[in-house]
Amino acid sequence: MAIIRLNVNGRTHSVDVAPSAPLLYVLRNDLDLRGPRFGCGLAQCGACTVLIKGAPVRSCVMAVSSAQGMAITTLEGLATKGKLDPVQQAWIDEQVPQCGFCQNGQILTAKALLARNPSPTDAEIREGMAGVLCRCMTYYRVQAAIKRAARVIADNGGREASLRAEAGASSKGEEVA
Ligand code: FES
Repeated sequence: MAIIRLNVNGRTHSVDVAPSAPLLYVLRNDLDLRGPRFGCGLAQCGACTVLIKGAPVRSCVMAVSSAQGMAITTLEGLATKGKLDPVQQAWIDEQVPQCGFCQNGQILTAKALLARNPSPTDAEIREGMAGVLCRCMTYYRVQAAIKRAARVIADNGGREASLRAEAGASSKGEEVA
């Protein structure tokens, strides 16, 4: 056993665990984060996905010691100030989940996909999501939700830019006045 320091969802945790323990086990059993799921245990299905430095990682095959000091995001860390991430909201709006078991991996992989490609084509979505398996065949709804999230994120970006521009214009106006 050893003390391992993990940075998860913006908080630092110290856990006394075997350094070779899978990160997934520590997240679920020691930190009580139940977003990541045990699926195949062989990095084949994606249910255990977490983001490390923004990239999807299969936590069932990663030793917890390898994750020390890295920024880890689980499904629980996507919402900010009680507001769902646009990807999570799109999942609800498109009613994606069926049994739900794989959806942790679907959502986090989609989040990473949109971060590197804000406007993916259908083919790019299929390619980017190919490694996350769904036994309920929710793939078409996953694709629809990713496109919805992309539109919302683009709209929000545009709104924020125009609010910044308006704020800039009004503060310039005050200076002139
Ligand atoms: Fe059941 Fe994907 S929703 S495995």
